[in-house]
Amino acid sequence: MSDLTTNVILFTCQWCSYAAADLAGSERRRYPANTSILRLPCTGRVEEPHLLKAFENGADGVMVAGCLEGNCHYQTGNFRARARVKRVAGILDSIGLNGRRVRMYNLSAGQGANFAAFVTEFVELIDNLGRSPINLARTNALEHQAA
Ligand code: FES
Repeated sequence: MSDLTTNVILFTCQWCSYAAADLAGSERRRYPANTSILRLPCTGRVEEPHLLKAFENGADGVMVAGCLEGNCHYQTGNFRARARVKRVAGILDSIGLNGRRVRMYNLSAGQGANFAAFVTEFVELIDNLGRSPINLARTNALEHQAA
C-alpha cells in the first residue's frame, strides 16, 4: 500500500467505472487512499486541458477509467478519452514529467476487484516515480520562502 506521499486523481464515468468503484467499496476491497475520484457522465468529457490542469493543481498521477470498449453509454466516449490520454502522455514526456503518469483503464460495473487492483497498480507506479516535478518545484519554492 502507498505511504500517502503521492496524490492520484481518478476520472471515472458515472456508469461502469464508478459503479465498479462503488462495488469495490461495498465488497470492502482495499486500495490506496491517496486517490481522489472525480465522477463524470462519460470519460469522453475529459479533455486534454482537464488532464494537464490536474497535474498543475498537484496530481502526481492521473487515471481515467471508463466503460469497457464497446460498452460506453455514449458510444465512443471511452475511445475519445483513450486518444486524449495518449496525447497527454506524449505532452508529459515532452516536458519531462513522464508520460507514464497518466493512464486509461476500462472496467465493467461488476469489476470491483479489478477496480481495486488497477488503482493499487497505478498508485504503486506513481509512488515509484515519486512526486511530480511540478510538486517538487512547488515544495522547494515554499521551503525557500519559509527559510
Ligand atoms: Fe462510461 Fe462513456 S459512459 S466511458
